[in-house]
Amino acid sequence: MSTDRRRKVCVVGASGKLGRYMVRHALDRDYEVVGVCRERSVEKLAEFADRITIVPGPTNDREVIRKAVAGCDGVLTVLVPWGVRQYSSGTAQAVLDHAEPDARLIFSCGWHITRDGKGKYSWRFKAVVRVVAWLARLVRAVELDDQVEACRRIFASDRRWTVVRGSDLEEGESQGLPVWSRHVGDPVLASNRTRRVDFALFMVEALTDDTLVREAPAIVGCRTPSALAHARG
Ligand SMILES: NC(=O)c1ccc[n+]([C@@H]2O[C@H](COP(=O)([O-])OP(=O)(O)OC[C@H]3O[C@@H](n4cnc5c(N)ncnc54)[C@H](OP(=O)(O)O)[C@@H]3O)[C@@H](O)[C@H]2O)c1
Repeated sequence: MSTDRRRKVCVVGASGKLGRYMVRHALDRDYEVVGVCRERSVEKLAEFADRITIVPGPTNDREVIRKAVAGCDGVLTVLVPWGVRQYSSGTAQAVLDHAEPDARLIFSCGWHITRDGKGKYSWRFKAVVRVVAWLARLVRAVELDDQVEACRRIFASDRRWTVVRGSDLEEGESQGLPVWSRHVGDPVLASNRTRRVDFALFMVEALTDDTLVREAPAIVGCRTPSALAHARG
């Protein structure tokens, strides 16, 4: 990202927990921030209202995204599987199509996404994903497959993207930048726990880390037992 003027980033899905942490990290780093969220959630951004520009609307609305990402050096997108109308893939596609040509595009998802099929998942993890997907289809509120489709499109794109795959999340004070690996199942990730505030930190730091371009890091908290054991070698 260019550094000779105030840099501008867009947070797509800014009103959620991860989104608000990203807004805070971005403001701390003196980015100019544009936030996109559903109209009904604008009030969740009240604490930032005088410091950011809010573009209300569904994040899979191409016109909303076109307006929000104009002139942005980076776009931080929370990919959520809510709804049954291709919310995730619609959001990802709008960002891929409308972001500035050289913009850094950072997307969030979970460990269940795999880029190359080489991740090793425990039977427990696979069972949980299967049950969640089944329940989701039953209540027609969540579309896990659509988050998979969103990531398939991102992986196929020649944009400057990074897909950050979060472990199980918890709240709490920041512990620092999470560590990462390309493959779920690698010992460093065994603790499967990251503070949400640090997930957001990783996303924001990725904006300026070119080693993460076209990578899909699976992350884990840097103070978790598995990360500490890895650091000790
Ligand atoms: N939760 C976990 O344990 C976990 C684990 C690994 C990875 N992740 C990843 O982390 C990211 C953030 O997840 P999170 O669970 O922490 O959620 P979150 O940050 O609270 O964000 C939820 C987002 O979903 C939106 N949303 C909620 N209901 C919706 C609906 N019916 N239609 C459209 N949008 C809706 C919210 O918008 P409003 O503010 O408008 O409601 C908000 O932007 C996601 O990419 C997720 O895949 C989560």
